[in-house]
Amino acid sequence: MVGASLQKCLFPVAGLGTRFLPATKDIPKEMLPLLDRPIIHYGVDEAVTSGCRDIVFVTGRSKRSIEDYFDRSLELEHLLERRGQKEVRDDLVRISEMANFAYVRQSEPLGLGHAVLCGEPCVNDSYFGLILPDDVILAEKPVLGQLAEVHAALGGSVLALEKVPWEETSRYGIIEGSECADGIFRISNLVEKPASGEAPSRYAIIGRYLLSPTVFRHLRSAKAGVGGEIQLTDALRELLAEEPVFGLLYKGERLDCGTKKGWLKATVTMALRDPELKDFVMDIVRKEGSDGEGD
Ligand code: UTP
Repeated sequence: MVGASLQKCLFPVAGLGTRFLPATKDIPKEMLPLLDRPIIHYGVDEAVTSGCRDIVFVTGRSKRSIEDYFDRSLELEHLLERRGQKEVRDDLVRISEMANFAYVRQSEPLGLGHAVLCGEPCVNDSYFGLILPDDVILAEKPVLGQLAEVHAALGGSVLALEKVPWEETSRYGIIEGSECADGIFRISNLVEKPASGEAPSRYAIIGRYLLSPTVFRHLRSAKAGVGGEIQLTDALRELLAEEPVFGLLYKGERLDCGTKKGWLKATVTMALRDPELKDFVMDIVRKEGSDGEGD
């Protein structure tokens, strides 16, 4: 276990998932499957293997299936037992035993910053992990655990960074800062979605954070922007004027499941890496790819 001091991890899952409509009219985006598990399972797995025992979901309307997924399902378990499918039953029980799960509601989707603020009563006064589950990250060492190691060595808050092409800076929060150790930056400023010509660097913030509880004070005083939304980046900018905030170029491979194309790519990538599915997928692609050629 890495990052033993990190106990709590927050998962904001109250967004509307409009990029997946109509599927997300009733199914939370976080419950869309990546092979045989919902997307959210990968994020929770990362938090747990990083040492977190308490998982806090900030949920909203139509998100009940997330609560059900991480709870026992006695009827189903009995049925599987009667059918002699004990291993499948045990796998299901293990999901509910991964961690302690707590839920708070965000009654209106007023932005990521507001969702994080809704989690405050469950986090109290400790440093906490924050995972945006759209980003599934395949890594030898869980990324939140990598952030916890930087925190253990240097203190302060730590954000996961990725070097993105200049033409993509306008899709991310971008940091300004100086490298203080190999792959670790002391952040001096954050710019939200800068045009490539105006970006202070190519280091983008992705969906993994280890944050000081001081951020809640800045979220409370943050002014709502477009659409009444409270931006996390604004509160982080205030935070770094007061406390150290570091950025870590994490080691791992990010699969962005927040868009249809990204989710499809993630599904194909995972299937191609599964020895039982690889040939099956390749056969489909060869057949479907060649159908229509020469038409
Ligand atoms: P996104 O903007 O990527 O997710 O927010 P979304 O709003 O659900 O998706 P689209 O853009 O409509 O397709 C990043 C994360 O913040 C959460 C989302 O659930 C997601 O995990 N979030 C966002 C909230 O919990 N509350 C909000 O008000 C906004």
